[in-house]
Amino acid sequence: MINILFNARDAIWPEYKTHLTQEFSAAGLDVNLMQETKQPEEVDYIIYTPTGPVQDFRSFKNVKLIQSIWAGVDVAIKNPTLTQPLARMVDDGMSEGMSDYVLGHVLRYHLGIDQYINVEAGSWKQNTPCLARKRTVGFLGIGALGMYCAKAVARQGFEVLGWSRTLKEDDMIQSFCGSDGLQIVLERSDILVLLMPGTSETENIINAKTIAQMKHGIAIINPGRGSLIDDADLIDGLNSGQISGATLDVFRVEPLPHDNPYWNHPNVLITPHIASETRMETAVPVIIDNIKRGENNQPFLHLVNRSVGY
Ligand code: NAP
Ligand code: GLV
Repeated sequence: MINILFNARDAIWPEYKTHLTQEFSAAGLDVNLMQETKQPEEVDYIIYTPTGPVQDFRSFKNVKLIQSIWAGVDVAIKNPTLTQPLARMVDDGMSEGMSDYVLGHVLRYHLGIDQYINVEAGSWKQNTPCLARKRTVGFLGIGALGMYCAKAVARQGFEVLGWSRTLKEDDMIQSFCGSDGLQIVLERSDILVLLMPGTSETENIINAKTIAQMKHGIAIINPGRGSLIDDADLIDGLNSGQISGATLDVFRVEPLPHDNPYWNHPNVLITPHIASETRMETAVPVIIDNIKRGENNQPFLHLVNRSVGY
């Protein structure tokens, strides 16, 4: 019998319980799936989000893996009691959802759709957009989600640049790394997509200095993490026109407080952390695959590298 603790918010438990129970059984795994336990030392695996009731993991001494159902592990990594092996979520449904969000907002900026919304009757200002191939889209972060989205944007015809910690070889995406590489991506991009994790290295990567390096009039889309942006510097960049627009899905404090200046900024579109939620149908097979790996003494997939923070 494998003991698995589901440590996430109550609202998603009933659906996950039904689906996981069916799929564990179909996979031939004999599982005791529980929402709480009085015997933490007997738990083998924890299915985790940072919003679950257990926040102190010290007594879970025999856990083989904490499997996050979120892609971002910025909160988990800062929890000093969570020292067990930690895997983040990488799943096809999440990639597809993120690519829909990114492509949608890239096209929105490319086509200048906002200028035609809520106009006065009779307004007839024709502003024909250039072709996609004349527009450059930069991605800061071309990991599981960033690369998937970057390819979708490239397939649409845009020139695509990607910046990451390590260089990639790809025939659709021009890859850059290091501070020189960052400068090139910032200078050349018309639209910039942030898909990096929140770490000590990436904190405030969008700041007055990097904003000054950007092409004038750039638009920024941030479905990554709120901590990537120095908010005061972004507002200054928007007010000066250096940044023409920002679409923000993630924030340092969520829900975004009523008095946050982003709410009333004419060139900011706020989405409430909906860019790409974990899709249960595609996440459950990933969870089961990793638990099977643990039971068969095979290496886990998508393990977090604590030394780099993601
Ligand atoms: P990932 O596979 O770990 O990719 C992260 C990317 O960021 C990689 O390309 C990595 O470079 C790069 N990176 C990390 N630190 C860097 C640094 N210091 N300098 C330069 N590049 C750096 O993560 P993912 O699955 O694509 O997810 C990305 C983030 O999206 C998550 O961490 C989460 O915060 C966010 N997210 C948001 C939503 C939402 O609904 N808004 C949903 C899911 C995820 P390497 O390739 O060289 O490692
Ligand atoms: C959502 O933001 C996630 O990290 O999965």
